[in-house]
Amino acid sequence: MTHIARRAEELRAQIEHHNIAYHQLDTPEISDADYDALVRELRAIEADHPELAGDLSPTHGVGAAPSALFTPVQHRVPMMSLDNAFSVEELEAWARRLERLADGPVTYICELKIDGLAMSLLYEKGRLVRAATRGDGRTGEDVTANIRTIRSIPAGLTLDNPPDQVEVRGEVYMPVAAFEDLNRRQAEAGARLFANPRNSAAGSLRQKDPAITATRDLSFWAYDLSAPGGVERMGFVQHSQTLEWLAGAGLPVNPEWKVLTTVEEVHAYCVSRQEHRHDLAYEIDGVVVKVQELDRRRELGSTSHAPRWAIAYKFPPEERTTRLNGIMVSIGKSGKATPFAQLEPVFVGGSTVGLATLHNEDQVRLKDVRPGDTVIVRKAGDVIPEVVGPVESLRPKGSKPWVFPTNCPVCGGPLVRLDGESDTFCTNFDCPGQRIQRLAHFASRGAMDIEGLGEQRVIQLAQAGLISDAGDLYSLTEADLGGLEGFAAISVANLLAAIETSKDRPLANLLAGLAIRHLGSTGSVVLARAMGHLDAIEAAGPEELAAVDGIGPTIARSVHEFFASERNRVVIEKLRRAGVSLAGPAGSDVPQVLAGKSVVVTGTLEGWSREEAELAITSRGGKSPGSVSKTTFAVVVGEAPGASKLTKAESLGRPILDEDGFAVLLETGELPA
Ligand code: IVH
Repeated sequence: MTHIARRAEELRAQIEHHNIAYHQLDTPEISDADYDALVRELRAIEADHPELAGDLSPTHGVGAAPSALFTPVQHRVPMMSLDNAFSVEELEAWARRLERLADGPVTYICELKIDGLAMSLLYEKGRLVRAATRGDGRTGEDVTANIRTIRSIPAGLTLDNPPDQVEVRGEVYMPVAAFEDLNRRQAEAGARLFANPRNSAAGSLRQKDPAITATRDLSFWAYDLSAPGGVERMGFVQHSQTLEWLAGAGLPVNPEWKVLTTVEEVHAYCVSRQEHRHDLAYEIDGVVVKVQELDRRRELGSTSHAPRWAIAYKFPPEERTTRLNGIMVSIGKSGKATPFAQLEPVFVGGSTVGLATLHNEDQVRLKDVRPGDTVIVRKAGDVIPEVVGPVESLRPKGSKPWVFPTNCPVCGGPLVRLDGESDTFCTNFDCPGQRIQRLAHFASRGAMDIEGLGEQRVIQLAQAGLISDAGDLYSLTEADLGGLEGFAAISVANLLAAIETSKDRPLANLLAGLAIRHLGSTGSVVLARAMGHLDAIEAAGPEELAAVDGIGPTIARSVHEFFASERNRVVIEKLRRAGVSLAGPAGSDVPQVLAGKSVVVTGTLEGWSREEAELAITSRGGKSPGSVSKTTFAVVVGEAPGASKLTKAESLGRPILDEDGFAVLLETGELPA
C-alpha cells in the first residue's frame, strides 16, 4: 500500500470513529475544527486519487448510522450535509464557480448556521405526526415523543388550509443560558458536564424518557421545507418564500436571514455575523449561504453528500484540542490556591493559549482533567480561556485523577479548605508567594499606584530581604536600592519618588491595597466615604461596619478580623509612622468629576486592570456597571471588547472611548473634544 493509500485508510477510520462519538454517543473526542481538518485532508486525497475514494468513504455519507435506542425512520428526501468554506477566498471561489455553472442570474440568501442538530418534522393536515433526527442522512431516529416537549415546536400549524403533507427541516438547539443552567444542575448533582450547547441539546433529545427532555430548555429554528413534488407546487420560486411560509405557519424562523445580490455583500454579512456571534442567546458556528432561486438550485444539483447550491461559511474555531502538560497551583494575595492548566500552546479564539485557570478543586474533579490528557480548550469572545474537559478515549493508560496538593507549592505550609467553601487556602501569612502578591497588589494602579513597582521588582526587593510587607516600602533608601541589579541611579530616584507620592493616595486606595479578603474596590470606596479615617475603621466592631450602606456582614467580619490581627496592626503602624495618609474620604481628595455618571469598561486596557479602571471610576463618584444602557455616559473599550457591549453602545449611540479618551474623562469628567 502506498503511503497515500495508507493515510487515506487511517483518515477514514478516524472519521468513522469520530462520527460515532459525535452522532451516537454525544461525546465528541475532538473539536469540530479538528474533525473538519480530517475530512478536508481525506477529500483532498480522494480528489487527487479518485481510485482511492470508493463508495464507502465517509466523505460520501453524512454523520453516522442511527443508534438502536430509537425506531429508525427512512427519510423520503435524504437529509444532506453542507460543504464548508473556511475562508473568504473559499467562499468566493464557490460563488464564482456557481455563477459560471448557472444558467441564469443568481442571488444569495444568507442564514445563520445554528449550532444544534438537524431535525425533520412531518406535518400531516397541519398536525405534527413524526419527528426524526438526521442519522446518516438516509435513515434517522424517531424522536417524536421528545420533540413534542419542545414548546417552540407547534403541534399544529396555524393555517386555515394546511397541506396534506409537508416536511419541515430545521435545527434543534439549546440556548446558551439554558446550557449553563443545565451544567450548573449537573454539577450540583455530581453528574457529567456537557461540553457545549450542541452536545447538551443532542444528549437531551436522545433520552428514552421524554419527561427528562421536557426539563431541558430546547428550542428550534426552521430553515427548510419539502413537500410532495417540491415546494414549487406550492407556488414558490425563491427560498425566501419558504421561510415566509414557515413563519406564517407558526414555526419559529430565525429573523436574521438576508437576501443579497453580490458576493461582496455576502462576504460582508459573514464578517459582521462573525463579529457579533456572541451577541446572540444561542450559538452559531457560521453562516449558511444558499442560492435564492429554486430553478437555479435544480440546475446546480447536488454531489453525493451536499447540494452545490449552498455552502457553510465556518467561523474560525473557538475550540481546539491540545495536550495538558501539567496542573499547577498558584498562590494569590489572600493565600487562595488556584489550580491552573499548563497547555501545549494552541491557537484558539484568536490568540495563543498556554495557560488556563481551573478555578478550584471541585472544578478539576468534575472535569476530571489529568496531566497527559488531550483536552478541549475553548476561548470564546472576550471570555477567558477555559479547559472544557478531557478526551477520555485518548487518555494515556494508567493515568490517575489529579489530586489537589496538601501543601503550598511556595512555602510548603498546609493548604486548607474549610467546610462548605470551594476555595483552598495557604494559611501561612508569611508565605513568600502570598507576600509577593500582596505587595504587588498594594503597588498596583487601583491601589497605591506606585509606578515602576511591578511583580518582578517586588520579587527582586523581597528576595534581597528589603521588604516583607507594604510598610517596608516607605523606609527604602537610595543605599538599599543602589546595589541592586537593573537599578540605575535614575530608576532608584524614580522609584523612591513614586513611593513618596503614593503616601497621599485617597483612603479608598489604601484600603483596596491592603488586600482585605472580600473587600473589593467598590467596598473600599464605600467604607472610606462612610468612615473617613483608617483609625475609625480599625476601631469599629463588625456591627458598626455592617451598618454602612453597601457593606454586608461578610465584608464587615473580614475587615474587622483584618484589623484585629497583630501582624496587620504592625504594618499599619509602619505606614502611619512613614506619613502615609490614613485620612479623608475619597471625595475630599479626588474631585468627584464622575458623580452620577455611569461608565462601562469592556476589553483589556493596556495600562489598567479591570479592577483598577473600576476603582478609578468609582473613586471619582461614578458607577461602573457591567452592561450598557441608555443611561450609560460612556463606554471605554480596550483590546478584545465584549461584542454585546460594543453593539449595544453603538445602537444606543453612547460615546465610545479608547484609553486616551478614558484618561481625559477621569481628569475632567467630560468626553474628550
Ligand atoms: S441548510 C442541504 N440552514 O448545518 C442543506 N443548515 O453542516 C441542508 N444548519 O445539516 C442544511 N443552520 O444541521 C441549513 N440555516 C441553516 C442551518 C443549517 C444549521 C446545520 C444543519 C445541517 C448542517 C450542515
